[in-house]
Amino acid sequence: MLKLFKIEAYDEVPSTNDIAKELWHAGRPEGTVITANVQTRGRGRMGRRWISPTGNLYCSVILKPKKPIRSLSELSFVAALAVGETIADFFPEKKAVTYKWPNDVLVGGQKIAGILLETEGSQPDAQDVIVGVGINCASYPDQVTYPATSLADWMGTTPDPKNVLSDFLKNLRLYYNKWLKDGFSVIRPMWLEKAHGMGGKITLAVNGRVFTGAFLDINDRGELLVRNYQGEIDVISSAEVLFA
Ligand code: BTN
Repeated sequence: MLKLFKIEAYDEVPSTNDIAKELWHAGRPEGTVITANVQTRGRGRMGRRWISPTGNLYCSVILKPKKPIRSLSELSFVAALAVGETIADFFPEKKAVTYKWPNDVLVGGQKIAGILLETEGSQPDAQDVIVGVGINCASYPDQVTYPATSLADWMGTTPDPKNVLSDFLKNLRLYYNKWLKDGFSVIRPMWLEKAHGMGGKITLAVNGRVFTGAFLDINDRGELLVRNYQGEIDVISSAEVLFA
């Protein structure tokens, strides 16, 4: 069970995920948190940049769940629930928070946070994970592939990223420990309860190919189940959701 976090705060770094990896190699324990005011080379999923000016939250947490590699993708959903709960704590209209597969958190259908999981470790069956989280507290970039928003837009005031971080860590501990104890079977229904666009049309990019289908469910491994136009069910383990 994860009990304590130890925060190491920087002013400017290339990417908090990179610092977390370096410190993992230096032997830092589970629960080490790297945070920075600014990132000069913030990374997003699919090799994209994560523009990281001052005012937003950028943090990376070292986790050592001692679970088989195949279950690590479940952590995406654990992190998404923790971020979603954090957003809801700052913005009381809880219904506005939804989850976009695999690990985006939306408010009013617009992306407010990003999560990047990276593995670091050499044991064959139990790997350590860096959970990188960016939450748009003050701003978001103009040029984005999916509509974006910030807490400031919804709250009318800009929250201090330090307060957002402490709330996020409280929620991460809660959901991470639930997952360690009870597994994905307790995480999946909580995520599905607020899944964005369930039952509706979904457009995906899979290995550079774009296709549309109906978003049916996620399975017990967190894979996306989509009914294609031929009426068959495709099981998608990695893709980008373009529209839902
Ligand atoms: C995405 O939605 O594409 C994921 C974005 C993840 C951004 C965070 S900010 C903190 C951490 N450091 C990085 O370089 N990326 C993650």
